[in-house]
Amino acid sequence: VLQSGNVKVVAVPPLDVHEEHLQQQLRADRTFLSVVVLGASGDLAHKKTYPALFSLFCEGLLPPHFHIVGYARSKMTFDQFWEKISQKLKSLSSFFCRRASAIDLLASFKSHCSYLQGLYDRPADFANLGNHLKEVEGDAEQVGRVLYLALPPDVFLPSVKSYRQSCWNTKGWNRVVVEKPFGRDLKSSDKLSASLMALLREREIFRIDHYLGKEMSLSLTALRFANVAFMPLFHRDYVHSVRITFKEQSGTWRRGGYFDNYGIIRDVMQNHMIQLLTLVAMERPASLKDDDIRDEKVKVLKQMPPVKISETVLGQFTKSVDGQLPGYTDDDTVPKDSKTPTFCTCVLWINNERWSGVPFIFKAGKALESKTTEVRVQLREAPAGASFFHEPNLTPNELVILVQPHEAVYLKIHTKKPGLLSQGLQPTELDLSVMDRFDVERLPDAYERLLLDVIRGDKQNFVRTDELREAWRIFTPLLHEIEEKNIDPLPYPAGSSGPSASYDLIQKYYSYKQ
Ligand code: NDP
Ligand code: BG6
Repeated sequence: VLQSGNVKVVAVPPLDVHEEHLQQQLRADRTFLSVVVLGASGDLAHKKTYPALFSLFCEGLLPPHFHIVGYARSKMTFDQFWEKISQKLKSLSSFFCRRASAIDLLASFKSHCSYLQGLYDRPADFANLGNHLKEVEGDAEQVGRVLYLALPPDVFLPSVKSYRQSCWNTKGWNRVVVEKPFGRDLKSSDKLSASLMALLREREIFRIDHYLGKEMSLSLTALRFANVAFMPLFHRDYVHSVRITFKEQSGTWRRGGYFDNYGIIRDVMQNHMIQLLTLVAMERPASLKDDDIRDEKVKVLKQMPPVKISETVLGQFTKSVDGQLPGYTDDDTVPKDSKTPTFCTCVLWINNERWSGVPFIFKAGKALESKTTEVRVQLREAPAGASFFHEPNLTPNELVILVQPHEAVYLKIHTKKPGLLSQGLQPTELDLSVMDRFDVERLPDAYERLLLDVIRGDKQNFVRTDELREAWRIFTPLLHEIEEKNIDPLPYPAGSSGPSASYDLIQKYYSYKQ
């Protein structure tokens, strides 16, 4: 039986030794933890931030003394705010299965939460927030404050300025979690970095890219560098092409205020997908220490030329064919004449000895036929004449890393058709997934892992400034060209697989039929 806050929770399966040790440390920690979520009325706070905090609470991974303040411009009472948040938490409660009765813990979690209404740049509102924090922290001698910016990027700076002025903690540490996209292009990102650095120290800034906290992103490094079988495989001698795909079924409903300003390239390609690419392509790091890994990632990025418009297809979703799903511009938070792409396919190249000539094909889109994020490493065909098997349509081997909706790794191979006289081949899969083999109750959500890192002050899975600059360098010329030439995205019906031009572009580089 463990003590978390003022509630007793029962540990169902035994805890991993590291978790047990961490829980002990946290329980012994006398520091009062305050978390301020700016933009608490929004999609991210609702879908990810609060569920992750609640899950940590259920796991006994928050210190005994903590408080979470939600802050936003929306006028609502705490009860109205809580109604929305708790509905989401209840709907997710099956995920919190490591302890009994997560639902029962909700009431206790609620007693650690509050909501304040205010503007992001009004000093008086932040003075109010500062007073509220002092009140909840009471006479705690040691305080750690996390400011979480669950906000569109144009509001980051005014909010941090206001917070720095009126809410800065003088009884311990301060950490600021900044969401992506960080800026709109290379120049604005540099400017934002410089402005934030004038207010904060580097060690106080945690630039989050939640794809770095996903189980399969972390597994990629293990797969590549802990297995001799795979070490040589990640090389131009064996790899024909790499496809990284991010597909979502949901559109951008009610998120137009943010999304229309940024578009799909800034929303997921320049950050999440680039992170996956660097994990696939980096050389072996000197160690698994955070800076060694990040050094290797930056080296890969530096060897990548900017993406060309001639190798890009843009799209925007329209009403679904049956008229049931709305089009992008049907949302009244989106301007009717918006040309913001909700879909993009593009080809990236790495000019180094390992990857020269291997296309990395990115495809990302909203309102598509299914939700999947995956990496497909397509291997080369056997050299002509080197194969005994002359089967028609013999597809090359492919290593698939499925990031979501469920985590899996498998290798597509060919085996002999079983039977006395049969000689032909049949395609099958060598399943390398870990989930079915280990007694894993559930995998932590990326935000849960990353928020715990913030609370512990561990920067390992956060984005470094040089990494960010290189990622922007690769996409900025394309983004400028799209905007300067006012390029029309190709329409595609919601629920489809995107514009057909995307299929044609992919087919140029990828030999499977899609
Ligand atoms: P939202 O559009 O939901 O915005 C969050 C909140 O910010 C809103 O509830 C609103 O609160 C306030 N807001 C919105 N537009 C403006 C504006 N123009 N000026 C001032 N305040 C505004 O965005 P998300 O929550 O989806 O995203 C927030 C950040 O998180 C973004 O940087 C996004 O990239 C990132 N992110 C989002 C994810 C997601 O799944 N949604 C996942 C990963 C990252 P109010 O009006 O009440 O003040
Ligand atoms: C966010 C984007 O960064 O990632 C959203 O802003 C997107 O548009 C989300 O929906 C996807 O995250 P996940 O974890 O559901 O793949």
